[in-house]
Amino acid sequence: MSEPSSFLLTEAALRAKQSAKWTAYGPEVLPAWIADMDFALAPPIRAALDARIARHDLGYPMMYPAAGLTELFAERAAARYQWSIEPNQVEFFSDVVQMIYLALLTLTDAGAGVIIQTPIYPPFLQSVAQTGRRAVLCPLVPGNHGYAIDFAALEAACEAGPRLLLLCHPHNPSGRAFRRAELAALGEIVRRHDLLVISDEIHADIMLDERAHIPFASLADDLAARTITLTSASKAFNIAGLCVACAVFGSPDLKRRFDQLPGHVRGGRSALGMVATSAAWRAGDPWLNTVLAQLRANRDYLASFVAARWPAVRHTPPEATYLAWLDCRAVGLSEEPWRFFLRESGVALGQGPDFGVDGHGFVRLNFATSPVILEAILTRMDRALLSVGKSTSAPHP
Ligand SMILES: Cc1ncc(COP(=O)(O)O)c(C=O)c1O
Repeated sequence: MSEPSSFLLTEAALRAKQSAKWTAYGPEVLPAWIADMDFALAPPIRAALDARIARHDLGYPMMYPAAGLTELFAERAAARYQWSIEPNQVEFFSDVVQMIYLALLTLTDAGAGVIIQTPIYPPFLQSVAQTGRRAVLCPLVPGNHGYAIDFAALEAACEAGPRLLLLCHPHNPSGRAFRRAELAALGEIVRRHDLLVISDEIHADIMLDERAHIPFASLADDLAARTITLTSASKAFNIAGLCVACAVFGSPDLKRRFDQLPGHVRGGRSALGMVATSAAWRAGDPWLNTVLAQLRANRDYLASFVAARWPAVRHTPPEATYLAWLDCRAVGLSEEPWRFFLRESGVALGQGPDFGVDGHGFVRLNFATSPVILEAILTRMDRALLSVGKSTSAPHP
């Protein structure tokens, strides 16, 4: 593949970074694990951060209202997702995972059942365990577009009286973006069993096909009233280190319950994070569109590479996110594949078992990198599979 655009960073530039993705492993390893992208900052974000720093303006930021961000998010929700919300429903926090913990603590009692659809972004499992809530696991099952919700199993799980559904939509690690009909059926179950919903929609702006993201809370007012939607600019605009995320409270009652927490328990929002989020949502979309085109090309390249050369690896190309969830169970390795690929190919991947018991035998590959690095990652993995007789060495695209 060719290396066309200036937003792509070279391996040397990436190795000079201080963030986790490129420092956790040694210089011989290519990292495709944590969900950061290997792209240069969007120019409007960079300009806004530079300007703030040039003014030596890093004191306590204006918080209330969160410097125009609540209005900005409400405008974006209307324009991008046809989702009508009021700015006063929106509040800003440090990060989405923090919000999941705080929502579990304020909306449920100790020991309460929390529905989780596995395989799942690991903090979902950790937050429920660490807050003393009870995970009610509802594994996703094979469906027409990759993973699907097993509604009968979900209905059965609700008999145990869970209080809350922890939804990940679009879904990490599978990259599924649930269809309106699936969300509506989920909504029916939520109503019938009187559930609250925490909907983590942090990947909403990384839709890889023509479909638009559908916020769960946008389906109906009564479902919105049961839902806290969590999101941030951090995934789509690659600014996770700046720690700003937002929550949309679907009803005053949810907000009131949440507001019982003392302000300082929630933590602060970083000045630079708010500046970057504002720039991203005001002026970052042209950059995002370029990135999305690259992510689509990378997704398609990866899919055709896997199909051509690794017949034992099952993979449904993601509809959203920049994560590929590779089912290596039929490869016949005698160890977890992430361990095999790390040792044999020097590629660091997301470790399947971290995503729940049904993640055994899987790896998660982050393909948000330059075509050259993606090709190097796949070539390294291919050599390792060839060494155990599991690559066809057929020509790939
Ligand atoms: C589904 C999901 N939620 C939350 C996060 C992390 O969000 P934050 O850094 O705001 O805690 C990620 C990061 O990859 C994610 O994939």
